[in-house]
Amino acid sequence: MEFEEVLLRRRSTRRFSPAQITEAQLKKLLEAAERAPVGSAMYQDIHLTVVRDQTVLLRLCEAAWERFSSAEKLRAVAGKVAEKTPVRSGKEKPNLFYGAPTVIFVSHRRQTLQPGIEWANAASVVSQMHLAATAMGLGSCYMWGALESMRMLPQFDHTELLELPSDFAPLMALAVGYPAEAETGAPPQRTFSINYIDP
Ligand SMILES: Cc1cc2nc3c(=O)[nH]c(=O)nc-3n(C[C@H](O)[C@H](O)[C@H](O)COP(=O)(O)O)c2cc1C
Repeated sequence: MEFEEVLLRRRSTRRFSPAQITEAQLKKLLEAAERAPVGSAMYQDIHLTVVRDQTVLLRLCEAAWERFSSAEKLRAVAGKVAEKTPVRSGKEKPNLFYGAPTVIFVSHRRQTLQPGIEWANAASVVSQMHLAATAMGLGSCYMWGALESMRMLPQFDHTELLELPSDFAPLMALAVGYPAEAETGAPPQRTFSINYIDP
């Protein structure tokens, strides 16, 4: 797929078919991740975890279920997103990974030298995989909410299920699989405000 087309087609998929991606597709995603730019080339500070066990993924949702257990709590955290996404508050226990058959977690070594660079590194790695998934005709979605909820509610933090090397923390993830339905319609128009400082 041409790069321009990848950019045009990239979307956040929030409904996945249960069909698993192939090992070859997974390999390509992991290779794309490793080609991402990383601050100071500290590649050894990044760890990836491929989770294909739905039981583990659901346990990683528990903090979010607790955190979003009332409409008020959900709105306080997610604002207008609460009305737009399929995640619901109340008694429902939504799968924050949208049933994706594979979720790739990006963890970073805890560090204090360049504050914040771990978030930029993780986003760089996830973006690279997100685009690679699009190029292969797969659906994918950045995952933040479940992990943020575990950071906010340590009593529901099940990071240990990721079996990370010591001193690493999971920052974000990419849920990936085949979209449950084909994407229809034109891509939405988005605009940033931009200013130019010319001579
Ligand atoms: C850092 C980051 C975190 C995100 N976290 C989530 C998430 O936890 N759950 C989710 O459904 N979408 C998440 N998204 C996807 C955004 O909501 C999505 O990119 C945005 O609404 C634009 O839609 P599009 O990706 O379909 O163009 C995240 C995106 C980014 C960049």
